[in-house]
Amino acid sequence: MRSAPTLLALLAAWPALAGIPTDRAVELEHMLLQDCGSCHGLTRKGGLGRPLTRSALETMPSEVVVAIILDGIPDTAMPPWRPLLTEEEAAWIADYLKTKE
Ligand code: HEC
Repeated sequence: MRSAPTLLALLAAWPALAGIPTDRAVELEHMLLQDCGSCHGLTRKGGLGRPLTRSALETMPSEVVVAIILDGIPDTAMPPWRPLLTEEEAAWIADYLKTKE
């Protein structure tokens, strides 16, 4: 079976391909509620920062949300999270915000 090694390599890479591990996802969700929530509200309906609900972010492209999370918004209270998050994790958060109400 000539294709066997390729298949095995694929299977070995599977956890990485599947994205964020479950326990890291739990941490990210916690961070979202506690840290982002301190400015955007525990229910993401807004506070010092704007609402981060699905409807509020509906028209904002995912790449823009990811960029804002990683780099913040200069000259506002929105801080950059790049020191704490990988791009993959920022994308996970953006996806969470845009899909979960
Ligand atoms: C210290 C307060 C603070 C924290 C903590 C914070 N933000 Fe913000 N955020 C802001 C403010 C203020 C704005 C609006 C800036 C402006 O005037 O454009 C903002 C804007 C945003 C926007 C753009 C929203 C829009 O409609 O323009 C996104 C997305 C966002 N924040 C995501 C997050 C996420 C995700 C986290 C947690 C990882 C987070 N923020 C944590 C203060 C904060």
